[in-house]
Amino acid sequence: MRIAIGSDHGGYEYKQEILKYLEERDYEVKDFGTYSKESCDYPVIAKAVAKAVVSGEYERGILICGTGIGMSIAANKVRGIRAALCSDTFSAHATREHNNSNILCLGQRAIGDKLALDIVDVWLKTEFSGDSRHQRRIDMIEE
Ligand code: RB5
Repeated sequence: MRIAIGSDHGGYEYKQEILKYLEERDYEVKDFGTYSKESCDYPVIAKAVAKAVVSGEYERGILICGTGIGMSIAANKVRGIRAALCSDTFSAHATREHNNSNILCLGQRAIGDKLALDIVDVWLKTEFSGDSRHQRRIDMIEE
């Protein structure tokens, strides 16, 4: 699976940790920045990752900022993106099954790093249910 990942300065440390975790598990991951802890603007990174996902070049995206909220607001502005901010594994599982979310957002200042890795793991491994009622609702969002 090809994954696009990005963060601002507020999510930089978790991005590095998640990147390493995924590469060790043979995922193909492209890092869209930021590349240091220096302050930067999360909408720039969110847009780059979101565009990479809607283009089809990457199947999924992961975005991290301090809260995960700014990243999710920005990513969801890109047509075709269904970005889900998750702070627990139940939601990570449900948003894949029900919403077919294609970007996962995480808040470095909101959750612990081991929980973040568990959420990533569950989110990447859970398939969309394909249920017609869920697809109908996703189609409504697209319209
Ligand atoms: C940066 O300080 C912080 O505002 C950002 O990482 C994020 O939490 C925004 O939603």
